[in-house]
Amino acid sequence: MKNTVTTFQKMKEKGEKISMLTAYDYSMAKLIDESGINGILVGDSLGNVILGYEDTISVTMEDMIHHGAAVARGAKNALVVIDMPFMSYQTSTYDAVVNAGRLMKEGRAGAVKLEGGEKVKDQIRAIVDASIPVMGHVGLTPQSINAFGGFKVQGKTEDTAKKLIRDAKAVEEAGAFAVVLECVPSQLAKRVSEELTIPTIGIGAGAGCDGQILVYQDMLGMYSDFSPKFVKRFGEAGLMMTQAFKAYDKEVKEGTFPAAEHCFTIKEEVLERVY
Ligand code: KIV
Repeated sequence: MKNTVTTFQKMKEKGEKISMLTAYDYSMAKLIDESGINGILVGDSLGNVILGYEDTISVTMEDMIHHGAAVARGAKNALVVIDMPFMSYQTSTYDAVVNAGRLMKEGRAGAVKLEGGEKVKDQIRAIVDASIPVMGHVGLTPQSINAFGGFKVQGKTEDTAKKLIRDAKAVEEAGAFAVVLECVPSQLAKRVSEELTIPTIGIGAGAGCDGQILVYQDMLGMYSDFSPKFVKRFGEAGLMMTQAFKAYDKEVKEGTFPAAEHCFTIKEEVLERVY
């Protein structure tokens, strides 16, 4: 069944948990989609896990459209959410609407995601008014990494916890259909999830959120540059891949691959006439 923003809202109302994973290409989107995951985020984390940057700052609109469209072609049932990259919405509501529109028209997004709370409420409202569903993202927002001074849990003090609640509420009031809570103490995330009417999707925010999201390379052990505490390895695909690559390397070098069953043939008499 096709997941839409309405599906997410109904799941929250019924107390059903929402599952999301990231994807950045067609074949991975297809596998995730076929597994029954509710939503796929084409995250700007592609800057790290696909493009090898140390952060998400350099990711462009073209990167997001290129990868987003590939994911959209592979996802038949999951709701595809595409991240708005750094500086595609912070500059003005006009830029926000134009760029969200491009992600929907060219990237075939079902919704867009942008980072920030009170500071971006006007952008969220303007995008929603243009009939483009918006997912918010508060707590640790990686595009603000230079302002935060590093990857840190958000909302641990009284002031920052109050700010997180204000941000989440601002996102809801501006019309977002859901909000990601990243790296937030579990008890606070649970309270926020109870107070909001829209679903919260947690990453490093505990089991009290209405849904969960992980970067697929993290949960499959395919990305070793950085492994946050909140990641659980659900498989060892990285290990399986290196074992397979080593076996291939060995067989190529020994001459045992390709074997007869992997080869095409020509009739001997035809070959004789050639030489
Ligand atoms: O870019 C991303 O992958 C994200 C998730 C971590 C929520 O924003």
